[in-house]
Amino acid sequence: MSQNEATTAFLGRRKALVTGASRRLGRAMAIALARHGATPALHFRGDEAGAVDTAALIAEMGTVAPIVSADLSDAAQCTSLVGAAHDALGGLDIVINNAAIFERTPLDEMTAQHFDRHMAVNARSVYAVSLEAGKRMRSSGGGDIINIACASAARPYPAYIPYSASKAAVVNLTQGFAKALAPTVRVNAIAPGPILPAAGELEGQGERAVEHTLLKRWGDPEDIAEAMLFLLRATYVNGFTLAVDGGRSIA
Ligand SMILES: NC(=O)c1ccc[n+]([C@@H]2O[C@H](COP(=O)([O-])OP(=O)(O)OC[C@H]3O[C@@H](n4cnc5c(N)ncnc54)[C@H](OP(=O)(O)O)[C@@H]3O)[C@@H](O)[C@H]2O)c1
Repeated sequence: MSQNEATTAFLGRRKALVTGASRRLGRAMAIALARHGATPALHFRGDEAGAVDTAALIAEMGTVAPIVSADLSDAAQCTSLVGAAHDALGGLDIVINNAAIFERTPLDEMTAQHFDRHMAVNARSVYAVSLEAGKRMRSSGGGDIINIACASAARPYPAYIPYSASKAAVVNLTQGFAKALAPTVRVNAIAPGPILPAAGELEGQGERAVEHTLLKRWGDPEDIAEAMLFLLRATYVNGFTLAVDGGRSIA
């Protein structure tokens, strides 16, 4: 193996579960994992065609990525998803908790259901998946969990209070599980700023978010994939939430 190939394959033989791998950030991270030698299990809920497309892109690299399905609003399905990924891959070394919902909830429209839904999909799924995967990784001798939080965890978006609160919970879960699973399993998070505009955004909303960054531009899914690779490489980093937000968090 050449020096270059050895560097490229630093995740060689590691087995990963990526939730929400059917598109956008999840797809970029699954492809980056495969590019660096890991085999990702691709989770989807509704977008099976997107997951199949992600698998086809990964197949071009010579890696067969199994596809697994679960509705992460259901805690039992979160637990069984980990088992399904473990069985499909023959083990589990890395979990990327990426799937989430992002619903606009202005003050006069916000209900308890909005809060419950965001907490279930965005936060309780991280809890349930991390609990099941973390215990399995601890038994097998090691692993990495990376949670996708959001810049809004530290600075809530007023029209997205349930979403922001769920992402704050993700940051807290990252620290809690990092402590509980130490020293065997590392748990870190990434807090993206504006990377890709979301469905249902108001006109100009994305541009205003970009204006709040220091770099005055959108990020790219590759920026999130790079941060994920950094956290997998940087083995003395634990319980940390890495802002990948163009400097929004200090602007
Ligand atoms: N895009 C950004 O600029 C940005 C900024 C900050 C933070 N983030 C965070 O980064 C992550 C990815 O963002 P994105 O924009 O790529 O997301 P996205 O395009 O909205 O995709 C979300 C993913 O979550 C899955 N999902 C939604 N509800 C689910 C459920 N009940 N059960 C299982 N899976 C479910 C979807 O699966 P199906 O399509 O198969 O249903 C989809 O693959 C999220 O955690 C998001 O909060 C993104």
